[in-house]
Amino acid sequence: MLRKHFAAEGVSTKEYLPYRPEGLPAKVVAVANFKGGVGKTSTAAHLAMSAALDGYRVLVIDLDSQGSMTSILGGNVADEWQTVFPLIAKDYAQAVQQENRVRNAAGQSEIPLDETLNEALKTGPGDVIQKTHWPNIDLIGAQLNLYWAEFQIPVWRMGLRSWPLWDGLTNFLHQDGVLDDYDIVFLDTPPALGYLTINALAAADILLVPLGASFLEFDSTGRFFDMLYTTFASIEDGENAAQRAAGLPELKFEWDVVRAIITRFDASQQTDMANVIQAYFGDFMNAYRQDYTALVGQAGEQVNGIYEADYRDFNRDTYVRGRETFDRTYAEFKEVLIGCWWRDTHMGDKADG
Ligand SMILES: Nc1ncnc2c1ncn2[C@@H]1O[C@H](COP(=O)(O)OP(=O)(O)OP(=O)(O)O)[C@@H](O)[C@H]1O
Ligand SMILES: [Mg+2]
Repeated sequence: MLRKHFAAEGVSTKEYLPYRPEGLPAKVVAVANFKGGVGKTSTAAHLAMSAALDGYRVLVIDLDSQGSMTSILGGNVADEWQTVFPLIAKDYAQAVQQENRVRNAAGQSEIPLDETLNEALKTGPGDVIQKTHWPNIDLIGAQLNLYWAEFQIPVWRMGLRSWPLWDGLTNFLHQDGVLDDYDIVFLDTPPALGYLTINALAAADILLVPLGASFLEFDSTGRFFDMLYTTFASIEDGENAAQRAAGLPELKFEWDVVRAIITRFDASQQTDMANVIQAYFGDFMNAYRQDYTALVGQAGEQVNGIYEADYRDFNRDTYVRGRETFDRTYAEFKEVLIGCWWRDTHMGDKADG
């Protein structure tokens, strides 16, 4: 690869490789909001493409059974076995195996593993991660069957109450060197605070919450934050009683950074509302507002993201402004990303939890 060559040969003092501190794992970025159509997938897809163009190695995980992200990246997903489904199943199956060892020793009967779970135990990253036509972007795709996970996860949990149902995705990312193989992992989530979204939020270092500058989206995003807080506080409460009793460290969900980001912004109509939202969210708000652009607004169905849009299909102004708005969204994201890595190197990694 040219980038590697120039970084090694060094034709000038300029740095060609994107910044990631030596030895630190990839950053995991979840894009979430239970409100539908706020720009989660567009934001995640364009950040992933910008980061790839910038030289980062990117893994995108589609957690939405609608599979929009998967189509944008041209993914092929035959059934749930090419999605995160078997990874979460495997996590549960491993928890059951561990429990069964304890039960065996105590002479108690085992929890049975069905065919699906036995199959899932054999799944590794290579079975679910696919290449895309983007050299630096790999994908774990989604399709309709993934929705089954929302029914299956609580059933598994009833079979083994001690299984942490929010941890499957985190455990997958930390196993088999996935976080070493990539620089950034983007998680696109469905418009719901279901079990897959909870897995994404639990795995994330950086949480991005897109919203449009309208009252409805502002209102429902406020409720999304409330619900997030309540959901994770109740998981922590439930868990920590047991952890304390067992003398184990307590569970605490935390993110390096949480950022709300205005999407599909129309400065001529929405500046007042955007200012209200900015004042309300304060430091949790991105400074840059991602503009509404016909580059995704209309071409979105035929074109797989603006970096693949043909400039000849648009008037010059539309094209330039469309590119610029996503470039600037990425520029601000990159500052946040590098800030997180900088803190990890200079102030020690955040406490595990
Ligand atoms: N900056 C933008 N300018 C114009 N249109 C946009 C922009 N961002 C997103 N859109 C359009 O808005 C619609 C919703 O966007 P997107 O699919 O990214 O939202 P979402 O939050 O992922 O939706 P869902 O909740 O269904 O997953 C899409 O038709 C998309 O093309
Ligand atoms: Mg989406």
